[in-house]
Amino acid sequence: MLILGIESSCDDTAAAVVEDGVRILSNVISSQNAFHQKYGGIVPEIASRKHVELILYVIEEALNKAGITLADPEAIAVTYKPGLVGSLLVGISAAKAIAYCYHKPLIGVNHIEAHAYANFMEHPDLEVPHLNLTVSGGHTLLFYVKSPTEQELLGGTLDDAVGEAYDKIAKFLNLGFPGGPIIDRLAKKGDPKAINFPRPLLNSGDYNFSFSGLKTAVTYYVKEAREQGKEIREEDLLASFQQAAIEVLVVKLLKAGEEKQVFTLTLSGGVAANSLLRKTLSEKGAEQGLKVVYPRLELCTDNAAIIAGLGYHLFKKGERSGLELSAIANLEF
Ligand code: KG4
Ligand code: ZN
Repeated sequence: MLILGIESSCDDTAAAVVEDGVRILSNVISSQNAFHQKYGGIVPEIASRKHVELILYVIEEALNKAGITLADPEAIAVTYKPGLVGSLLVGISAAKAIAYCYHKPLIGVNHIEAHAYANFMEHPDLEVPHLNLTVSGGHTLLFYVKSPTEQELLGGTLDDAVGEAYDKIAKFLNLGFPGGPIIDRLAKKGDPKAINFPRPLLNSGDYNFSFSGLKTAVTYYVKEAREQGKEIREEDLLASFQQAAIEVLVVKLLKAGEEKQVFTLTLSGGVAANSLLRKTLSEKGAEQGLKVVYPRLELCTDNAAIIAGLGYHLFKKGERSGLELSAIANLEF
């Protein structure tokens, strides 16, 4: 069964065709990074205008690459939350128009649940229940996953998402946008023990996270060093920041795994592309007898294949959205 997926929640305009929830026939993504780069972050107004310009081309390319026409998909799945309202509305409007004109069912998909679902696409025999850590530019969430469509939220960040901390630190240091991949690359050349940054909520005894204080600690450290005329090796600073951020994620995820008595841990979201997170979690997980899985990079960051993939399972469950489907900015579980 073919599902056309559409994603426009943030700054990527994406469309994909997926068969039976796992087989990707096409996965087209038009990144707007170049347009937001000079602002050091996403400008919502620019994002929605670019989505309007790009959405039809992206959908057309996804259909062409899959070798199908708009008449072929069984249903249209589209991200409706969470995200930038103006951006979400572009994808939703396109999906509604197709659904209406071609008499197709419309399925609203939660972007965050789709990130977690990426692991089922990559590993169709993925064990349940398992724990999933979704780490992106907007979210840091820990889920107890019972099936592709059933996730229980255990905890999340109380302030900045981990990807946001990466992006804000990169902006502060004028490194470019998005900051995650840049810091990941530069940190490899640094000493992670050079500076002992705080590990927020490491031993809080719950499943929550906080990254705003860590981000501030990094910026204060730089400001103070500059005032004192002290030279800092940027690679050491970044490696030390990354060590602190990733250590908190890994330690808390492993502890949650033990407490919830699961044997599999999964990662998703843009920060799941982080090399230190993947490596450390895999190593420490193996020591604890836990299996650690994550999707290929293309399925970690924003894309529409995960929307079409999860859309298939929602469709099979009988879930349908009416043409009144609208954008929701926040995550509402
Ligand atoms: O899931 P995603 O593509 O979009 C959101 O829904 O937010 O995640 C984007 C986030 C950005 O904050 C970016 O800096 C971060 O993922 N990111 C990384 C890496 N690659 C992307 N963070 C750390 N290390 C990486 N290698
Ligand atoms: Zn995302």
